[in-house]
Amino acid sequence: MSPDAPPCHHVLVLDSGIGGLSVVRAMRAAAPGLRLSYLADFAAFPYGAMAEDRLVARVCALIAAAPAAVDAVVVACNTASTVVLDAVRDRFAMPFVGVVPPVKPAGERSRTRAIAVLATEATVRRRYLDRLVADFAPDCRIVRVGSPELAQMAEDKMRGKPVDSDRLRAIVAPILSAEPPIDVGVLGCTHYPFLLPELDALSDGAITWLDPAPAVARRLRDVLPDGAARATGPDTAYTTGVLSDLDHLAPLLTETGFTRHLTWPDSGGEGI
Ligand code: DGL
Repeated sequence: MSPDAPPCHHVLVLDSGIGGLSVVRAMRAAAPGLRLSYLADFAAFPYGAMAEDRLVARVCALIAAAPAAVDAVVVACNTASTVVLDAVRDRFAMPFVGVVPPVKPAGERSRTRAIAVLATEATVRRRYLDRLVADFAPDCRIVRVGSPELAQMAEDKMRGKPVDSDRLRAIVAPILSAEPPIDVGVLGCTHYPFLLPELDALSDGAITWLDPAPAVARRLRDVLPDGAARATGPDTAYTTGVLSDLDHLAPLLTETGFTRHLTWPDSGGEGI
């Protein structure tokens, strides 16, 4: 958006890295007029390895340090959303939209009643996931694969490094060999849609992989306050890490609408 475009909603989208850009793609399609700021918290990547209390403190501190007022925040990360949403909603006035593993649509779709949940190690352990399964797929066999490597694999791919398909096959082996056969796979980490062509190839089309991003984009439209109009400005991608790292991701950032790259403001050390 050009700096003299009319005021519009300003939404902050955050994740540990590039994962949230899979959500941004869906948001751009569903609500093309938004002003977006994207935060890749590379200094803390991966969130899957972080203790829950640290993750909550960190996400609160990052939001508190936001360089401009925002009308809504999308926590575009399952690992964070499954623990931080109550805390951020208590602390901040703007609406929040989170991403949670799409177990509900998986339960509705599966014919074999066997579902895979592919996520970070942290997400597959969370009680939040237990509750989703109990509520929406209680009669299904659930194969949970929590991987400490897949998010990094997606990061590497989007920086131009080829995906090691043997390694990927080994990670998803419990899904491919499950009995009864799994017909629906839950992409429980926003990084994983970037590996969808490889996952589709490995499962030979037998598994429908569900990406929660379109539902998140629809939900955002519902929560945006009526008539809010924040200061205009260019859509910007921020990082807490090394700024030049965003340059390595320029093709993906440009495709998702972020040609301006900046460092996220220091939070004064709070929680970070
Ligand atoms: N993209 C994040 C998610 O949706 C997590 C990746 C990480 O471990 O940082 O869970």
